[in-house]
Amino acid sequence: MTDTRNSKKLFIKTYGCQMNVYDSQRMADVLGPVGYSMTDRPDDADMVILNTCHIREKASEKVYSEVGRLRKMKEEKAESGDRMLIAVAGCVAQAEGEEIMARAPAVDMVFGPQTYHRLPQMIAEANRAAGIKVLDTDFPVEEKFDHLPEESNHEGVSAFLTVQEGCDKFCTYCVVPYTRGAEASRAAAPVMEEARRMVAAGIREITLLGQNVNAYHGEAADGSEWGLGRLIRELAEIDGLDRIRYTTSYPSEVDEELISAHRDVPQLMPYLHLPVQSGSDKILEAMNRRHTAAEYLELVDKLREARPDLALSSDFIVGFPGETDKDFADTLSIINKVGYDAGAFSFKFSPRPGTPAAAVETQVPEEVKTERLKGVQQLLEAQQAAFNASMPGQTLPVLFEKAGREPGQLVGRSPYLQPVHIFGPERLIGRIIDCNITGNEGHSLFGEPVMTGVEAGETERKRAYA
Ligand code: 5AD
Ligand code: SF4
Repeated sequence: MTDTRNSKKLFIKTYGCQMNVYDSQRMADVLGPVGYSMTDRPDDADMVILNTCHIREKASEKVYSEVGRLRKMKEEKAESGDRMLIAVAGCVAQAEGEEIMARAPAVDMVFGPQTYHRLPQMIAEANRAAGIKVLDTDFPVEEKFDHLPEESNHEGVSAFLTVQEGCDKFCTYCVVPYTRGAEASRAAAPVMEEARRMVAAGIREITLLGQNVNAYHGEAADGSEWGLGRLIRELAEIDGLDRIRYTTSYPSEVDEELISAHRDVPQLMPYLHLPVQSGSDKILEAMNRRHTAAEYLELVDKLREARPDLALSSDFIVGFPGETDKDFADTLSIINKVGYDAGAFSFKFSPRPGTPAAAVETQVPEEVKTERLKGVQQLLEAQQAAFNASMPGQTLPVLFEKAGREPGQLVGRSPYLQPVHIFGPERLIGRIIDCNITGNEGHSLFGEPVMTGVEAGETERKRAYA
């Protein structure tokens, strides 16, 4: 039980990818037993953690402006005799720890993504006296996951579960191998245990996370190694786990076992984020992506053979150093060949300190990047819009997550991750209900529930691909 005399308030702001969302939840899990409960107001908090992202320049800059806002709150609190600890966590902390300490004196603690299981000790150290600074950006030998509490406060119906962390791919533009460290997989048994606990707490959908999730190779109890395909098959045996997703995958690490899981496991949703970055072989090579455009297309064919209704998403970088009009045309061409139904993300190349691509002389001018980004976004937007416009008239199983903005409205997700809005009773939250899709607007679908009495996952299980 929490001792209310020591009850403190914690505010966490999360930037960047889903792994940061998962990490923020785990930080809250670590701090719960030492008396911290969550608040959604920073000015109410005894401790504020900014869980940061370093992937592109803009993401990093946000941290310093947020620290500026927090400093004012911290000063106001100090005037009334209260203390607010400010911590910077995540990938900016890992990459720029010393710099943050020097540039932002209001920050009390800086810690990277591999050390947050030591948070209680760090806080105790920072609290010894005002002015003490704590910096912990190690890659410790001990496994973070072995030191996190088993208990987690799961709310809602969908959760992230980190199974793999780090990356050894060293794409020439990317900071992740430096901020998250070498590729490492969690053993299979604790992953299965965590999934079972989530399902027991009411979670119906799990998204397996990893910077390179399909490089997963977890040690199983019998000493064998499970790949991601095997892990998905085993997870699908958990009663009550109705939907499984994974992100982010690396094309050349998709193996036959994973492809066959898409064919055989109905709980594995027909949505896949499979970043290709560029359609030009020259640029793919300069990015060190380790596959050609043709190999990517071949892989997409295989996946669609296994699961014909697979909706694909991707990431694209435009304006990579040396990218010509012809290279850019190849990117538009691969987008046209694949057809990204589920929408895709596109970014201007951002030179990140310490990465090889940042040092290349043939940088693309900003105006050209802007123009190309517009071109890619228009095409991707049109593909997604066409896919969404093909939905009215279909019946889709929808997992309802929460109440909508309008009274009586519920919002859920289709298998393809589209938000679906209906009017219906709140008891449908947490259930999978077949819905007739009646309309679409923006990225959302609208529908009506088909109340057949077949609920909670059965609708999807029946739809197995033989
Ligand atoms: N510049 C632009 N985009 C980047 N990404 C990663 N690093 C950079 C960079 N330096 C994009 C990639 C990746 C996604 C998470 O962010 O497209 O897949
Ligand atoms: Fe970065 Fe490439 Fe690793 Fe993805 S695969 S995290 S883009 S280095």
